[in-house]
Amino acid sequence: DGSRPVWIGTSWKMNKTLAEAAAFIDRLSAAPIPRSVQPFVLPAHTALAAARARLPRDSPVRLGAQNAHWAAEGAWTGEISMRMAADAGATMVELGHSERREHFNETDQTIARKVAAALDHDLVPLVCVGEPTEVRDRGDAESFVADQVTAALARAAPGSVGACLIAYEPIWAIGARGRPASEVEVAPVMSAIATAVAELTGGGRACALLYGGSVSVGNAAELLRSPHTDGLFVGRAAWDIEGFLALMRVG
Ligand code: G3P
Repeated sequence: DGSRPVWIGTSWKMNKTLAEAAAFIDRLSAAPIPRSVQPFVLPAHTALAAARARLPRDSPVRLGAQNAHWAAEGAWTGEISMRMAADAGATMVELGHSERREHFNETDQTIARKVAAALDHDLVPLVCVGEPTEVRDRGDAESFVADQVTAALARAAPGSVGACLIAYEPIWAIGARGRPASEVEVAPVMSAIATAVAELTGGGRACALLYGGSVSVGNAAELLRSPHTDGLFVGRAAWDIEGFLALMRVG
């Protein structure tokens, strides 16, 4: 109905030098952005402040971090806090991406602490969930993902749950070895996520739900038509500015 924006965003993951980040941001700043779209970009920590400084103050583009720690400050070598992410220009923070769960031992419990810390700092948490192949194959994707959502939001006050974004990224769909999910595969899981959120909020404000995993200009329109899908979270296809602009035109 046009009242809810279509979220189109990208995480650069571990990509882009400062010069590459600047070139992307400059092209994005100069491009027309459809009014229906809420764009966001998640640079690496090294490029976040520089991206903020280059983006016009009135730009509709939101910037975020790809991760931040739950502790307020202190002896956490290699980490950044929510406050530091916000100070560098983030208004959102991605939490619980499957790569962080797999390679950095993030658990539902640490993600829940991070969600609460993000909300405390007025950062919009972008909570990533998704099942591995084995779970999909045995037919348990909906309950697995619903449980991840419930666990991640366990420390958020019911009134602030609706401020979170949730990205459904089936692990088998992410990255070069993945294949995109179809609308038929996505729809029942989105519905299960919406139900899990409604249980937490008591029917209050719903979270915006995004799909991620091998999104391309070719499949974006179909995926956006899926019920409960408010946007797309894109990796490879949006790292090139032309790809990102093309995806925003689909939104
Ligand atoms: O964060 C989005 C990402 O995990 C999806 O990556 O490259 O499959 O679009 P990609």
